Amino acid sequence: MKKGLFITFEGADGCGKTTQMQLLAEYLKQQGKDVVLTREPGGKGLGEKVREILLNYNAPVSDRCESFLFLADRAQNIDIIVNPAVSDGKIVLCDRHIDSTIAYQGYGRGLDIERIKMLNNIATNFQKPDLTFVFDIDVETSMKRVGKEKDRMESAGIDFHNRVRQGYLELAKQEPQRIKVLDATKSIEDIHKNVVEIFENINSY
Ligand code: TYD
Repeated sequence: MKKGLFITFEGADGCGKTTQMQLLAEYLKQQGKDVVLTREPGGKGLGEKVREILLNYNAPVSDRCESFLFLADRAQNIDIIVNPAVSDGKIVLCDRHIDSTIAYQGYGRGLDIERIKMLNNIATNFQKPDLTFVFDIDVETSMKRVGKEKDRMESAGIDFHNRVRQGYLELAKQEPQRIKVLDATKSIEDIHKNVVEIFENINSY
């Protein structure tokens, strides 16, 4: 059977990537494609427990500890959910992946980018997604969308989130083949059209 595809959705908190992932899933299912949805941190089972710690732990967390928890969750997601499904010919859509750690822990928290990339490689066995969407949005608009109820990551401050945004844009410059940047301030329908166009382009290679 033909190998499937692994597609990731990235961007600031409140950028609308989860909505876009669900819309692309609907589009693909209508075409009879076998689609699997997952997320980081999260996935299922063990991943959900790691997610709970990462988002709600109520005492100081060291930046390196935070990185390792995201990476542990990533290894579990890749081994247990993503790779088996892709080998089965399915299309896996994942809400956040390697680029989140580079953008948030690297650019955001200030950890060494090359080291984070190395650790990502260990967590994924040197695999990268076939395609990554980055939904770009200014920090003010994204924070308004998130609202007052912020989790531990969302409470990290404007400067932090500006660095995260710049990090994503920098990554897209480094890997233009894989990472496609979309304007997340457009309407949901327009963004969905862009997503489908880009997907169809890579899929017809
Ligand atoms: P989540 O509720 O999934 O936010 P969103 O709906 O915006 O994706 O929370 C995930 C948070 O974890 C988000 O603030 C980004 C952060 N994160 C990292 O800092 N590093 C990572 O490697 C990953 C996967 C997520």
